[in-house]
Amino acid sequence: MRIYALASLHFLHFLFFFISHAESVDYTRLQPSAVNYPAEARNYPEAPNTLYITNRNGGLAAFNITSAKQFDLLSMWANDLPLEGQDRLGDFLVVTELARGPNGNYPNSSGPKLHFFDLSNEGSPSFSLCPFQSLDLSTYLDAILHVKLTKLPSDELFAVITAGFATNVQGGVVFVNVTSQYNTLKEDTETPFVKILETSVEQPEGIILSPTSPTTALIGGIKSDKIGVIDFSDVSNPFIVEERQDYGKQLVGAKKSDQPFATNLNENYVVLAQWGASGGVMVLDCTDSSNPRIVDETGWYHSLSLSYSNRVKLYKDFILLPLEQPIGGFATVQLGVDGKLGDVQEEHYPLDELGEGDDVVDQSKSYCLAINEGGWVYSFVAETNAVYVYCLYDVAGVNNKNCS
Ligand SMILES: *[C@@H]1O[C@H](CO)[C@@H](O)[C@H](O)[C@H]1NC(C)=O
Ligand SMILES: *[C@@H]1O[C@H](CO)[C@@H](O)[C@H](O)[C@H]1NC(C)=O
Ligand SMILES: *[C@@H]1O[C@H](CO)[C@@H](O)[C@H](O)[C@H]1NC(C)=O
Repeated sequence: MRIYALASLHFLHFLFFFISHAESVDYTRLQPSAVNYPAEARNYPEAPNTLYITNRNGGLAAFNITSAKQFDLLSMWANDLPLEGQDRLGDFLVVTELARGPNGNYPNSSGPKLHFFDLSNEGSPSFSLCPFQSLDLSTYLDAILHVKLTKLPSDELFAVITAGFATNVQGGVVFVNVTSQYNTLKEDTETPFVKILETSVEQPEGIILSPTSPTTALIGGIKSDKIGVIDFSDVSNPFIVEERQDYGKQLVGAKKSDQPFATNLNENYVVLAQWGASGGVMVLDCTDSSNPRIVDETGWYHSLSLSYSNRVKLYKDFILLPLEQPIGGFATVQLGVDGKLGDVQEEHYPLDELGEGDDVVDQSKSYCLAINEGGWVYSFVAETNAVYVYCLYDVAGVNNKNCS
């Protein structure tokens, strides 16, 4: 099994060497100091021109990406904490501190935490990122990973969190009542309501709330190809509606309402990135929230070339997928209004800038990317902190459109 995995990785490497040399697209390379193992990059509908980056090697940074290729630091919460998950509702931002990762405990973390931010002075010159509360969850579990915020029909606000690399809960999904922090943008020292659901999705990472139900979540795991459908309409008694095999790993998702700019995607659909050697992307119709239906997926051929795809983004008639494979880069997939997938194109980072040898090439993986209003794609290299900026249409091969 191990030999097979190694051989296929080398095959991919070989394949992408030729793909990356077959076409040559203009790019700009940046090396900003506030980017430090970028794990998630999001610009939200509340402020589409502000990009928040959580760094797994420490810190949360906000950048102004208004204009063509612009990447100006607005504020940074500098630290050496392993930060990754993030979500926003209005002026309330929540960021996760992992505590444990793929290689065990992070030495600089004292436990899994939710860090809460007040973004109400975001547009002003005095904007300064500093959490108004850091909620320690270490009495409940030893690690967390991604987070989404959801407003229940009762108007209570909950953070729904995947337990990721936790060892003392299995397949965990955590529900934390953050209503008071959201409503007041102030610290609440009361012991919070925390509920943990264990599942057989191994090491949950990706989580997305159903677009048709604020109390239904879809999760994917690092170590299993399952999707889990979770109903928490009673937060005290959340349960697994169904677990299905062969959906791919991690399953980080996107939907129309969480994207900063217009997208072709139907408001009832979600798009899930399928991590793993046979990766790809799938579109799910969640009109019936407890029984999502596959609309389309990239299929075998493109699954191979889209392997290890991660934090997916939507922009107009495109899906954008960061690629962790050696050599790293990103892919564009055309998206019809009916949810059907079209042409796939990829761009891999220029080899001559990565140096020689497998180690350097393997360091080119990308977990995340972002796109600004004019169509400029910021693609982040985790290990080297380089940022490659491309025009979407150059990579997608659309010759009659320009980025602005
Ligand atoms: C964590 O702290 C140690 C010192 O205890 C330091 O050497 C290391 O660079 C820090 N790691 C990160 C990711 O900041
Ligand atoms: C962001 O940059 C634009 C120029 O592209 C500028 O007009 C705007 O004032 C900047 N925003 C902030 C908050 O600095
Ligand atoms: C959540 O927090 C709010 C505000 O503190 C409170 O009114 C509500 O009862 C809490 N809900 C649960 C389920 O704990």
